[in-house]
Amino acid sequence: MYELHFAVPMAGAILCTLNTRLDSAMVSVLLAHSEAKVLFVDHGLLEIARGALDLLAKTNTKPPILVLISERDDSSPTSIVPGTYEYESFLETGDVGFEIRRPKSELDPISVNYTSGTTSRPKGVVYSHRGAYLNSLSTVFLHGMSSMPVYLWTVPMFHCNGWCLTWGVAAQGGTNICLRNVSPKKIFENIVLHNVTHMGGAPTVLNMIVNSSVSDQKPISRKVTIFTGGSPPPPQIFFKMEELGFSVNHLYGLTETYGPGTYCVLKPEWDSLPPLQQSKLKARQGTQHLGLEDVDILDPITMESVPADGKTMGEVMFRGNTVMSGYFKDLQATEEAFKGGWFRSGDLAVKHPDGYRNKGRLKDIIISGGENISTVEVEMVFYGHPEVLEAAVVARPDNHWGQTPCAFVKLKEGSCVDAQELIRFCRDHLPHYMAPKQ
Ligand SMILES: *[C@@H]1O[C@H](CO)[C@@H](O)[C@H](O)[C@H]1NC(C)=O
Ligand SMILES: *[C@@H]1O[C@H](CO)[C@@H](O)[C@H](O)[C@H]1NC(C)=O
Ligand SMILES: *[C@@H]1O[C@H](CO)[C@@H](O)[C@H](O)[C@H]1NC(C)=O
Ligand SMILES: *[C@@H]1O[C@H](CO)[C@@H](O)[C@H](O)[C@H]1NC(C)=O
Repeated sequence: MYELHFAVPMAGAILCTLNTRLDSAMVSVLLAHSEAKVLFVDHGLLEIARGALDLLAKTNTKPPILVLISERDDSSPTSIVPGTYEYESFLETGDVGFEIRRPKSELDPISVNYTSGTTSRPKGVVYSHRGAYLNSLSTVFLHGMSSMPVYLWTVPMFHCNGWCLTWGVAAQGGTNICLRNVSPKKIFENIVLHNVTHMGGAPTVLNMIVNSSVSDQKPISRKVTIFTGGSPPPPQIFFKMEELGFSVNHLYGLTETYGPGTYCVLKPEWDSLPPLQQSKLKARQGTQHLGLEDVDILDPITMESVPADGKTMGEVMFRGNTVMSGYFKDLQATEEAFKGGWFRSGDLAVKHPDGYRNKGRLKDIIISGGENISTVEVEMVFYGHPEVLEAAVVARPDNHWGQTPCAFVKLKEGSCVDAQELIRFCRDHLPHYMAPKQ
């Protein structure tokens, strides 16, 4: 997949990376919608691909050519089904004098990434060469990558082209360390073996590292910078990661913004603050990176910028070159997303007096007795309890309040606190209306 990030655009084609967890039905829908001409498949996923091609055949859609990426020692063409190619042998038939087919316009598409999980209406996010170029360089800047970084791939390359670091790591002459399966043991082993400098991952990956058994952990002699996004990491995870030798940075974006759009620049003066206050500041989504023209919190009706008071909520909106070109073959969804001249993220946020933003997803807001409650904020409090491993807070219908917060909590092994104690803990650390009732 890494090689194809270069080969496909240089052949004048468009790359569509596919999530390795998709099933045949979903893959067939995406192959049809994207009108794919060639399908490259890792040997581990061949059955899924075959299933998808069978489904395509039933709908009379012309199937793409299949190129199998086999294990290195298994590239003999004899093991290949007729009509399919084997990747390494296929490369050998390539023309060394091939002239790169550059885009006619820098706004030509370079990739498409399907976001919706439903088979009914796939949403293909289109990236342009210009946007990918700008976001790659910006991502390198915000990761603080100097020359020749060693990047451990715990972010899948099918997530926004690896947050554009597929291209970015190459721009800095970096080394890519890829894992077939991600586990804490493998992460620590590879960090030490290859002197990894950077990595990334959703908070789940951080949680996995923090919760790993001591026997899987290895001392890290040089700090590894790890970027996380998706949802803000809880303070305890921040501290524990730092203890283990990682430096955690936090970014925010969507597939539609080529992955990273904003990031939380850590100010030196925060270092002297109490730890909990520090991690609250660090958990914010921050400000836009260099390649993005603008991000703002606007009232979705009036399109006016909300005051920077840390209280008034609005919708996070983006504009600039690192915002998608549109949804492939879906003008209506594209027009809705860009109504008012901004890309509407669907995420709610507030703006702080220092310009940094804080967000919660639309669905993450509970309205209880007319008050807005951020589920993320309540979850943060749970993570402050020493017995809690994971917490998720959702809205529960309530006849009197409309909605009340309800928490699902996973305790650490061997602990035995009960619900009442946890609810009390929340009431001690939050305004009472924000504390879960159940
Ligand atoms: C596109 O990227 C998103 C994350 O940005 C990922 O969740 C999704 O699975 C990707 N789509 C496909 C079809 O792989
Ligand atoms: C990692 O760093 C150590 C110490 O500087 C060095 O001896 C080793 O060769 C490095 N390993 C790699 C793969 O670069
Ligand atoms: C944390 O580790 C324990 C024991 O190793 C395991 O049972 C649990 O599933 C882990 N939790 C997460 C969130 O990885
Ligand atoms: C709650 O959020 C909505 C949507 O942003 C806003 O209109 C409303 O004024 C907020 N209510 C309070 C009490 O802050």
